[in-house]
Amino acid sequence: MKKIALLTSGGDAPGMNPCIRAIVHEAEERGIEVVAFRRGFSGLLDNDCFIMKRPDTSGIIQRGGTILLSSRCEDFKYEDGQKEGIKNLFANECDGLIVIGGDGSLRGAQTISDRGVAVVGVPGSIDNDIYGTDMALGVDTALNNIVRVIDMIKDTASSHERTFIIEVMGRGSGYLALVSAIATGSEAAIIPEVPFDMDKIAARLLQRFQRKANSNIIVVAEGAATAYQVGRQLSKIAGISSKVTVLGHLQRGGSPSTYDRVLGARLGSAAICQLLSGKSNCMVGMVKGEIAATPIDIVLKNKRVFDERLIQLAETLGN
Ligand code: ADP
Ligand code: F6P
Repeated sequence: MKKIALLTSGGDAPGMNPCIRAIVHEAEERGIEVVAFRRGFSGLLDNDCFIMKRPDTSGIIQRGGTILLSSRCEDFKYEDGQKEGIKNLFANECDGLIVIGGDGSLRGAQTISDRGVAVVGVPGSIDNDIYGTDMALGVDTALNNIVRVIDMIKDTASSHERTFIIEVMGRGSGYLALVSAIATGSEAAIIPEVPFDMDKIAARLLQRFQRKANSNIIVVAEGAATAYQVGRQLSKIAGISSKVTVLGHLQRGGSPSTYDRVLGARLGSAAICQLLSGKSNCMVGMVKGEIAATPIDIVLKNKRVFDERLIQLAETLGN
């Protein structure tokens, strides 16, 4: 291998930049050039690329987001788009491709592999919904962001004896909601994976009022309900008034945590090693503290499920 293409795709995640840096460093160390495409698969279709060298990665390790830019590219979901992508990889003499992104991006990566170019995926998504890795890039930083904000809200919530509903990201995954609820001692986590019982949550809050607990925090994953819906139901069922905070994209921003920087470095380096050892159509991840490569079709066929004991723990601690 002489040249490897690289792109970041889908929702950005803190840790993508440290991963890009590791890929470029590891590649140069091994005499390989990195052809970096801008804006994910859109850049691949537009042939918007440059040879990325070590100096291009200077000062990016502490930056959130992705310096390669990211996008969602509808055209790449169709055959014509994929053919155009392959054409540009060949035009730039790329022998392999590394895609950093979520499960959608890995699906896109697989179409390239199906057309004969070696591909390795790196999981990057704050949702932590990707099979084949215990943690995806960005999850740890997003959790730290959420916990920091909930801690701040708790100050004002307790001063005014209020109930707050905090909406966090996660269209299909309640990981961020569940873990941040445990980390902040919140009263309830509402997640898409488990049917929720508003009567039970309302009863819990009423009991807390009787015990003179002076504030409540409920964390809701956007995929389960909106914070406003939860607030309206609480008011209707139990007459409890609440304030709503939707955390939105601030969760995805900011300097990557130490964990995400090291994860990005390890996965980036591993992605190059996989390609050089002739592996393709796989995703590198971190499983029980070790780097593991999982075939992309296995990653996409399986749903990442989190430890049931976390759900039980959040329930017990919220009481
Ligand atoms: P994420 O990678 O964060 O899950 P998306 O699901 O939006 O984000 O996917 C990112 C991009 O990956 C899409 O905009 C598209 O370009 C590509 N992609 C997603 N699904 C497919 C697919 N089935 N075939 C080809 N490309 C896909
Ligand atoms: O997949 C990551 C994610 O941050 C989800 O949690 C969220 O629903 C979505 O991306 C938001 O996407 P966009 O950046 O298009 O608003």
